[in-house]
Amino acid sequence: MKTIIEPFRIKTVEPIRMTTVEQRRQLIKDAHYNLFSLKSEDVLIDLLTDSGTGAMSTNQWAALMKGDESYAGSPSYYRFEAAVKDLMPFKHIIPTHQGRAAEHILTFVVADGHGKGKIVPNNTHFDTTRANFEDAEIDARDLVIKEGLDPSLEHPFKGNMDLDKLEALLASEADNIPMVEITITNNAGGGQPVSMANIRGTKAICEKYGKPLIIDSARFAENAYFIKLREEGYRDKSVKEIVREIFSHADGMTMSAKKDTFSNMGGWLAVNNDEWAEKARTRLIMTEGFPTYGGLSGRDMECIATGLEEIIDEDYLQYRIRSIQYINERLDAMGVPVMKPAGGHAIFVDAKRMLPHIPSLQYPAQALAVALYIQGGIRGVEIGSFMFGRQPDGGEKPAAMELVRLAMPRRVYTQAQADYIVEVFENLKNNISDVPGLEVTWEPASLRHFTARLKPLN
Ligand code: F0G
Repeated sequence: MKTIIEPFRIKTVEPIRMTTVEQRRQLIKDAHYNLFSLKSEDVLIDLLTDSGTGAMSTNQWAALMKGDESYAGSPSYYRFEAAVKDLMPFKHIIPTHQGRAAEHILTFVVADGHGKGKIVPNNTHFDTTRANFEDAEIDARDLVIKEGLDPSLEHPFKGNMDLDKLEALLASEADNIPMVEITITNNAGGGQPVSMANIRGTKAICEKYGKPLIIDSARFAENAYFIKLREEGYRDKSVKEIVREIFSHADGMTMSAKKDTFSNMGGWLAVNNDEWAEKARTRLIMTEGFPTYGGLSGRDMECIATGLEEIIDEDYLQYRIRSIQYINERLDAMGVPVMKPAGGHAIFVDAKRMLPHIPSLQYPAQALAVALYIQGGIRGVEIGSFMFGRQPDGGEKPAAMELVRLAMPRRVYTQAQADYIVEVFENLKNNISDVPGLEVTWEPASLRHFTARLKPLN
């Protein structure tokens, strides 16, 4: 069969409140042209993030009832630990309330009281990973391959680490590098996968210099499925075998369970090093909770354990990757400049090319995100000069790229809704040159994109 169907039926539904273009024009004005300030009830298709927004299965809902809320030694922890170790056989599994809490604790351990002068290389640090390292004065270096920085260039593994750059950095700075990290898939670089060969190559360099390799694993199953589809020698392996191999090359991981476990909340830090684990657990008790619950309820840990069994289902992964490719291909065919090939969790639109009449510091990607909302009630997120333009010295600089990310929640939207997204672009394309740029009328001291106010120019 050519048609790939959603491999699930829908038992519970959440009604979407329909709105008109005129209503949305007023709603976004009231929200000062910032999509984070909208009420989610006023959004038709919410593609702000794929984090914590997935639909749980009947088995996950049933697992919630098995949650044991004991402070110490809960059976839910042991089920969670066993489910993680089944895929990622690390010695110490430390639950946290979400991914960034695991990153915070890992940063505390590797900074070891003096982060200044230290460097952590990564293919591309996700925002919170970077923020945690930089907060500890650690230099967070991005070493993705150059193909990964060109949105329109086709390459099967655009998330790969540049191994020559990594080797050169370690050769000159080994004493200052406490760990090396890889992010799978590379979210900040478009949800692009990393190949097994590249993970193996990174590990070989790490071993040469005696450095641990940590994997930021939020979308590990999507990455494993791309390896199965695209990498020589993996076609006949199961996703589970591929996942196990990925983690066999690592010394630890951080995880946001809000992505590839279909859970609304959760995360963990896993390491093999006993000394690191002890420091991490001490910190965990101060900031998250006792080591057998971290920041989580027993029911959350049950939900994650069940989600880990479901996420490696290959019918699900085929549907997941294909549904995003489908939108990407249709937009591409219509001349919308999308990142190619499609990543694992989102469609990225190049607003610099789609709205060439708007200069970077009038935020073309924010302008496009606003226009998508008015036209079709779709909420995406700007990743461009509005998010990154403000400099520490108070000045403003255009970002390298002006993108709108449309992140697809897992198991939530249907094929007709995918077609609707495409149709909204079709309608918008005809009068894209009328879309105005924006100016900021108020902004906070940092992280402005979450709360700043804007208004359209002219
Ligand atoms: N690492 C990656 C690669 C991520 O994409 C995220 C979150 C985190 C770590 C942090 O995990 O949210 O559980 O604290 N990404 C979300 C997003 C927020 O929309 O891309 P968290």
